[in-house]
Amino acid sequence: MRAGSWARPVHRWTSIVFTLTVIANFVARWMGQGEPPDWLTYSPLPPLFLQLFTGLYLFALHYRRRPDAARAGVAP
Ligand code: HEM
Repeated sequence: MRAGSWARPVHRWTSIVFTLTVIANFVARWMGQGEPPDWLTYSPLPPLFLQLFTGLYLFALHYRRRPDAARAGVAP
């Protein structure tokens, strides 16, 4: 497995989880009665933090020089 190859699918799938939690919040507010419970209100935060860390990691990977690639004459 190439270095960092885990981060992209984790980022991709947590984006789906994050989106679903946001949609659940909209649905609860528009269709529910009154304030939704706190756990639902704050449920987008854990996947969003995962997004933040894996996203920053993907960003860093993009600009990281790869010594093995440089040796092989491949563009970093
Ligand atoms: C919280 C801060 C976030 C950071 C720093 C971040 C950063 C990044 C970076 C650097 C990439 C790779 C771009 C490339 O290909 O060079 C990426 C891809 C992506 N991001 Fe984020 N992101 C964040 C949040 C989100 C959120 C909130 C969503 C959607 C709900 C999202 C959805 C995606 C998707 C779908 C991709 C493409 C993944 C793939 O290639 O399969 N990201 N993000």
